[in-house]
Amino acid sequence: MTNKHNTIAIVGATGAVGKEFISIIQQRGWHDKRYVMLASARSAGQKVRMLGQEHVVRELTADSFAGIDIALFSAGGGTSRQFAPAAVKAGAVVVDNSSAFRMDPGVPLVVPEINPQDAFEHHGIIANPNCSTIICITAIWPLHGVNQVRRMVISTYQAVSGAGMRAMQELETQSRDVLAGKPARPELFPFPCAFNLFSHNSPIDDTGYNEEERKLVRETRKIFHDDGIQISATCVRVPVMRAHSESVNLTFEQPITPAEVRDILSAAPGVRLVDQVEPQHFPMPIEASGIDDILVGRIRQDISQPDRRGIDLFLSGDQLRKGAALNAIQIAELLMNAN
Ligand code: A2P
Repeated sequence: MTNKHNTIAIVGATGAVGKEFISIIQQRGWHDKRYVMLASARSAGQKVRMLGQEHVVRELTADSFAGIDIALFSAGGGTSRQFAPAAVKAGAVVVDNSSAFRMDPGVPLVVPEINPQDAFEHHGIIANPNCSTIICITAIWPLHGVNQVRRMVISTYQAVSGAGMRAMQELETQSRDVLAGKPARPELFPFPCAFNLFSHNSPIDDTGYNEEERKLVRETRKIFHDDGIQISATCVRVPVMRAHSESVNLTFEQPITPAEVRDILSAAPGVRLVDQVEPQHFPMPIEASGIDDILVGRIRQDISQPDRRGIDLFLSGDQLRKGAALNAIQIAELLMNAN
């Protein structure tokens, strides 16, 4: 790591992803840096500990970025749209976890295991993909490199952490209320999340797909540099705290066997096979939570597709880590290690 990336801002330091930035930076031991913690006026003055030091949270303003080299943003799309240009103007590289700039042709959208080279094409902003996209394609890319994936049908089982800290509190409060015989009172979500599941509540357009589902399509094509890959998704919120799971059905260009898929994935970065038929030990959000790897299993031939070109699999990945903070930290490390 060089002097060029000495000062790091964490925008949204008090949020669910912000707290994960802090935990991962601590784990990875980025000791030789200066840190600026930013959040809304509500949190100004709060203290957070990282790497043995106390940092006072400051209110985010357009003047927050003087002297900042890398700004890790995770405070929602509106905040990114409002403040990322000021950070770039002040000379920082923004790694943005929101959807604000992801599909902008001048903004690279990066998963370091897939398209690290794209990060270096930035003009000040690098976008971190949507959590469901990252978790899925980190596991699919190594297969795509060997035998092209023509079509993916994805069903998600998404944790509440994707909607932030208040959503995690809502699941906990509703669960306690229901167990105490009281009704679950939705506040952030439109429907009860405890003991229930519901279709992802992002806006549905005239295709019938919601925004979360459309992100999976558009972002995968951009990251893979493959506009031909056919993708259909159904995104569902489930009462799980912080790891997303996904059922993925794949159609390949050429025949492929489950043994070949296991072989490829057992050597793939960022992926861990959990595929024991006896005693039916497969990916579970409870085991994916708090770890870096995406868990992949239930790998089997799709018996409905001809010529052994179909594979079904199931995966779980921590939405707050690889689905958000870890991927952004890996992007920052690409920049740090490049010079
Ligand atoms: P705050 O805690 O002061 O509200 P989450 O996704 O878990 O809800 O977290 C969102 C993060 O983004 C929090 O750190 C929150 O700060 C921050 N945030 C939200 N709105 C703004 C804003 N307008 N300016 C700065 N930070 C914001």
